[in-house]
Amino acid sequence: MGWSSYLSRQLSERRDTSLWRQRQVNQKSDGRFLYTNDGRYLNFSSNDYLGLSTNPAVISAWQQGAEQYGVGSGGSGHITGYTKAHQLLEQQLADWLDYPKALLFISGYSANQGVIAALMTKQDRIIADRLSHASLMEAAIHSPAQLWRFLHNQPESLTDLLARPCIGKTLVVTEGVFSMDGDCAPLADIYQQTRISGNWLMVDDAHGIGICGEQGRGSCWQQKVKPEILIVTFGKAFGLSGAAVLCDEQTAEYLIQYSRHLIYSTSMPPAQAQAISEAVRQIQSGDELRQRLQQNINDFRRQAQKLPFNLTDSTTAIQPLIVGNNELSMSLSQYLQQKGIWVKAIRPPTVPPGSARLRITLTASHTQQDIDMLMEALYEFRS
Ligand SMILES: Cc1ncc(COP(=O)(O)O)c(C=O)c1O
Repeated sequence: MGWSSYLSRQLSERRDTSLWRQRQVNQKSDGRFLYTNDGRYLNFSSNDYLGLSTNPAVISAWQQGAEQYGVGSGGSGHITGYTKAHQLLEQQLADWLDYPKALLFISGYSANQGVIAALMTKQDRIIADRLSHASLMEAAIHSPAQLWRFLHNQPESLTDLLARPCIGKTLVVTEGVFSMDGDCAPLADIYQQTRISGNWLMVDDAHGIGICGEQGRGSCWQQKVKPEILIVTFGKAFGLSGAAVLCDEQTAEYLIQYSRHLIYSTSMPPAQAQAISEAVRQIQSGDELRQRLQQNINDFRRQAQKLPFNLTDSTTAIQPLIVGNNELSMSLSQYLQQKGIWVKAIRPPTVPPGSARLRITLTASHTQQDIDMLMEALYEFRS
């Protein structure tokens, strides 16, 4: 089969199964509004949970960084791209989260790939929560290790798998807050099972860091668990992008030697590292923002009980409405758009078949009126 017929067949398959994805050019967005060429929408699809993407102190830190360092890092951290700004941020993260070391990556996707690819060998196995983010699953699938999946948030299922023999090392993998369901992993139980069996735990806390726990230190801190590998990302509550791996000295040194994503990729701009440092400070003193977010979550959940869609067990900023049917989720999303509200439908394969949903995210920037407006529109919807 030629290239063109292969591509054309794959594309028509996508169209036929209502899985067609489209990007659209937006003017800008923040934790509350999305500005498109058609006008302004209330934004309930943003991961900018604390509104830090437009925080003046964070913007100013980036500007000062750009003045001082220029706008790019000029190379991988192993060549010229590791500056004082990177080093200070790594130290700040390690101190804040109480780990010996932090290593910066350019994205959460890259961190998950870079860590798993470097650590795992053919004899090893990864046992991951079956709803773990695509970046974790893909890293596991592409690694030489075997991938086993335990039932979502069920430590007993993990225990059963851990009891089976493996000649190599085992890495247990989960998220802190699940990106598509918003529910929290029972990290204390998972960690205990992992430790009893002499293995390591890796937690991707992309959606918990900044939001959960004292000073926003995340899901692990909140549940008094210190996994051997903690991934935090800066594209959500920090309002920026990038990621860090928190670990012990030996693991950090190993990753510096073996993680190809660190060695062969241009490091994040130093100005960005400086902006992330400021975002960490905002998060540390951000109790008021977290309280506002919590009020919005409570308000949404109270009102959403009356809707004809299922909520998940989430107590976090991610509050999906499970619609089930792909077409219905799309028409609900389009209907809301006509009402000036932006909520994207999430369909398989991003979520399991039959669980298409509106992934509603709440932020500290939303007002009570914003939530009332969303609820009114949802009550009025008739399929
Ligand atoms: C749980 C989780 N891990 C990793 C990522 C990837 O992070 P990044 O956007 O920084 O690549 C995401 C992003 O959506 C995520 O939700």
